[in-house]
Amino acid sequence: MSGVGARSIIDEICDYALHVGREIPWLVEPLTPGRGKAYLLQHILRNRLLSAVIRPAWVSRCPDLDVVRKTIGQMREELVYDDVIAQPHTALLRQMGRNVGLTDAEMDTVSPVPLVEVAFNVWENIARTRHWIAGWLATSVDEFIITNLPKHNFQAEAWKRTFGLNDEQVFFFTYHSRADDEHAGRRVWEPIARHLTDEKDRREVLACTKLALTALQLFYQGICELGDRLDRQP
Ligand SMILES: [Fe+2]
Repeated sequence: MSGVGARSIIDEICDYALHVGREIPWLVEPLTPGRGKAYLLQHILRNRLLSAVIRPAWVSRCPDLDVVRKTIGQMREELVYDDVIAQPHTALLRQMGRNVGLTDAEMDTVSPVPLVEVAFNVWENIARTRHWIAGWLATSVDEFIITNLPKHNFQAEAWKRTFGLNDEQVFFFTYHSRADDEHAGRRVWEPIARHLTDEKDRREVLACTKLALTALQLFYQGICELGDRLDRQP
């Protein structure tokens, strides 16, 4: 019985996440140079925080060793080394930043804009203090959205068009469309069905995931505002 309830919660989360994703202006409005740069700058911070702080926070309480290994593997690919491409994703991200005209100094000294910092605090609090599954969902639901929405700005095409880049220069995005598919979604989240066995936990996970998605809206809103400011600069 509990399995059925837990499976349906995944469907509910997927539907809700896509509904939220379709309404996120940064994802669906035309990508401007400012919004592109702002995304990369703020994502540098998010990427580090997710893999060095927020994922470890819930992984430390996760009883499912397969999920633990897989997530630590993902953290390693992000920050240390991805065997397939012989470098960490942080190196790809940095190169992506250079390709759109950001300097190393800008990427080294970036700080979060206020709405992004609010989002970071929400995700971290969920990962530290709530059910570990809520932490897992909070740190993977964006990957689910960008691999399942049909057309949006976390896709190579948008960056080629806006910045006049070639295939090689947008590798960060083509590569992640594949990588993120292995990090989130109905198939990846399947173990949740085994672990979410009581109604109280189920309600907590659902509420926290909705909160994490509200934080995601703020994250992207902060990026849009920063990007629009960059676009107005001479
Ligand atoms: Fe990555």
